[in-house]
Amino acid sequence: PRRAIIVVAAGSGTRLAAGAPKAFVGLGAHTILRHALDGVFHAPEAQVVVVAPADRVGEAETDARLAAGDRSDLVTVVAGGATRQQSVAAGLAALWGDVEVVLVHDAARALTPPEVFARVFAAVDETGWGIVPVLPVIDTIKRVDGPHITGGVDRAELAAAQTPQGFRRDILTQAYALADRDHTDDAAVVAQAGHQVGVVDGDAASFKITTPEDLARAEHLLRGAPG
Ligand code: CTP
Ligand code: MG
Repeated sequence: PRRAIIVVAAGSGTRLAAGAPKAFVGLGAHTILRHALDGVFHAPEAQVVVVAPADRVGEAETDARLAAGDRSDLVTVVAGGATRQQSVAAGLAALWGDVEVVLVHDAARALTPPEVFARVFAAVDETGWGIVPVLPVIDTIKRVDGPHITGGVDRAELAAAQTPQGFRRDILTQAYALADRDHTDDAAVVAQAGHQVGVVDGDAASFKITTPEDLARAEHLLRGAPG
């Protein structure tokens, strides 16, 4: 395929503290990873690279096979690294030769709607830019210095970044080769390399499961979902 989706699932889930690496924690009847992959396999057809903790590769393969159904030939599972950035790099190294556009997605955003993947792919195809799904910032944001408020920030200038973030494969690979420090997302790696990055609408359901409260919210949404 000319498309790929790298699902990073190699984190330890320190803040969730659920006794297992986050992607392998239960959510409803399945793991967080399985839910994330169910969304991925309802997105436009792509090579799917799952980046798992080194000692969970077999488990990730099982989840991926179940989510993929008759498309399990599209799945590659590789071991991740110590940081998210290293895990993405491991995923990039596993891309097939014909892939031209790559999405990078957090397994922890387990309930991301398939339309978001389609929207990001379409915007990359249309612009050639890096593309980030974003939500408006709702809270009033303050600049602080210790206990003091030192200023305000115009929230119209701000957006909250989600995943999947999409890129031309050549640009993402080149930007990762140039990255000389740790970045919190792929768009920052690509922007640092001097490439243009644009936005599309994100989705509230794409929130990242980080804390036990987030997991409870995901459980609640799953129970309430029709079908
Ligand atoms: N991730 C990864 N490899 C790492 C660190 C993170 O693949 N070395 C992935 C996580 O599995 C997750 C996504 O990056 O899907 C976003 O990271 P985060 O929410 O911070 O997950 P964790 O690092 O697992 O959680 P924590 O920071 O609480 O330990
Ligand atoms: Mg982390």
